[in-house]
Amino acid sequence: MSYSPPAGQSGIGHTRWATHGKPTESNAHPHATDNVAVVHNGIIENFRELRAELERNGAEFYSETDTEVVVHLVEFYLKNGYSPQDAVQASLPRLRGAFALAFLFKGHDDLLIGACKGSPLAIGHGNGEVYLGSDALALAPLTDTITYLEDGDWAVLTRATCVIYGTDGSVVPRETSKSDVSSLLADKANYRHFMAKEIHEQPTVVGKTLAHYLDVAAKRVALPVALPFDFNSIERISITACGTASYAGHIAKYWFERLARLSVEIDVASEFRYREAPLRRGDLAIVISQSGETADTLAALRYAKGQGLHTISVVNVPTSTIARESESVLPTLAGAEIGVASTKAFLCQLMVLAVLAIAAGRERGKLSEIDESKLVQELIEMPRLIAAALLVEPQIEKLARYIAAARAALYLGRGTSAPLALEGALKLKEISYIHSEGYAAGELKHGPIALVDEAMPVVVIAPYDGVFEKTISNMQEVAARGGKIILITDAKGASEATVDTLVTIVLPTMVASFTPMVYAIPVQLLAYHTGVVSGADVDQPRNLAKSVTVE
Ligand code: G6P
Repeated sequence: MSYSPPAGQSGIGHTRWATHGKPTESNAHPHATDNVAVVHNGIIENFRELRAELERNGAEFYSETDTEVVVHLVEFYLKNGYSPQDAVQASLPRLRGAFALAFLFKGHDDLLIGACKGSPLAIGHGNGEVYLGSDALALAPLTDTITYLEDGDWAVLTRATCVIYGTDGSVVPRETSKSDVSSLLADKANYRHFMAKEIHEQPTVVGKTLAHYLDVAAKRVALPVALPFDFNSIERISITACGTASYAGHIAKYWFERLARLSVEIDVASEFRYREAPLRRGDLAIVISQSGETADTLAALRYAKGQGLHTISVVNVPTSTIARESESVLPTLAGAEIGVASTKAFLCQLMVLAVLAIAAGRERGKLSEIDESKLVQELIEMPRLIAAALLVEPQIEKLARYIAAARAALYLGRGTSAPLALEGALKLKEISYIHSEGYAAGELKHGPIALVDEAMPVVVIAPYDGVFEKTISNMQEVAARGGKIILITDAKGASEATVDTLVTIVLPTMVASFTPMVYAIPVQLLAYHTGVVSGADVDQPRNLAKSVTVE
């Protein structure tokens, strides 16, 4: 299809992630009235009231979106003689909810107004040009000179000027910094998809992350920041995150409890602040997020801060809102992750959390210096083990053809392999659209076993660890009902498991403490190749977004 770009010097655009109204042309952005056009990321929660009020004043709506009220509201003030700047200033306090907005005005070719509350917005400064975007990554092809707006800020931009105002309408100073554009400008190298490239980058980025947190020569953990509390004063850790990051948290729960004897509560971020959990001032909240912009996770962070908890964020984007707002930041050094389904950020999250659990164990006197150096040595081995695990790819590629034909799949594991089973099921459903469920293997008999028949592939994640025998018993139960078993284990596990499997994937032998970092590899590869075989858009699966900035 050929198309000619519209003429003009200024423009706004936005890929809408549908909240109110289907993804149709009339619901697409920008939304416009006679004198103003807007694009919006977020949700305007009081749009019904505003819409009713504006309709009473004669506004005619053409979409089902919440966003359209914003243009009609600004238009209302413009028609009452306000300047564009005054009309936006008058409108913003009337909007409830979360928004990042960009406005363009008829007859004002050299004017762009941006505003944000609860959703991120950044200004990019070019040569005689100015841009608005969600973050430095979105602006990377255009400029590396970035000013981040703070919550409640709004900005009036022309090609030559940029003035930022705070909520009270006074001019506020905001720093401009250089982003590391080269690391943000991502390409697929020789891979067919970003997801494949990112899976294969894992030995490198996990090594890089590790190096940031260790004194390798001394075999000690060396956190890059001094934490403003002592782990001995912490009674409980609350971990919150969404999606894949939340499974990193579930795995870390085992590590904090085992290595530091510290209780951990874990919630998906969208539940945490609504369940009125009793929280103790001075305890610790950890939020985990690749993007650092996930609205639910950000809200959980703010809630934890409000309750007087110390906050640590484990984030991949160091300039993100979550990083900026947390007391301490522990970065993952995965580099820009482009594939919507998180892979390399997940492994780096696990690495940072493992290191933090060791640091906590040491400080609380639960680990000796020798324990620490043994555990650190295990972490140092990770990049090599991950690289070795990637060698199972040809076997997985073959298996993917079988899985792609299945209607559903089950993933099972015990201990830290249980949350990895949940992550495996999430990966498969988001990338290949095959319904899949992850279960703690021991829970199978309490319901899900009813799903098992000859057509059901069951992926069993079972390193030869302390719960191996138990997992294998659960695998027997599946085999007895005809389920097709895909066993992911090591050489010892493969020889000890006496059940017939469809496929046994043998990973390198390793000490049992941090197996999920290695066992994640076949799980990611299986989702990736099944997605490719199914013809799905693996880098941008339907209905999903890389960073979800609405609640
Ligand atoms: C989206 C992505 C998931 C990701 C989740 C959390 O839903 O599709 O892959 O795990 O957000 O994102 P975050 O950036 O907070 O880690």
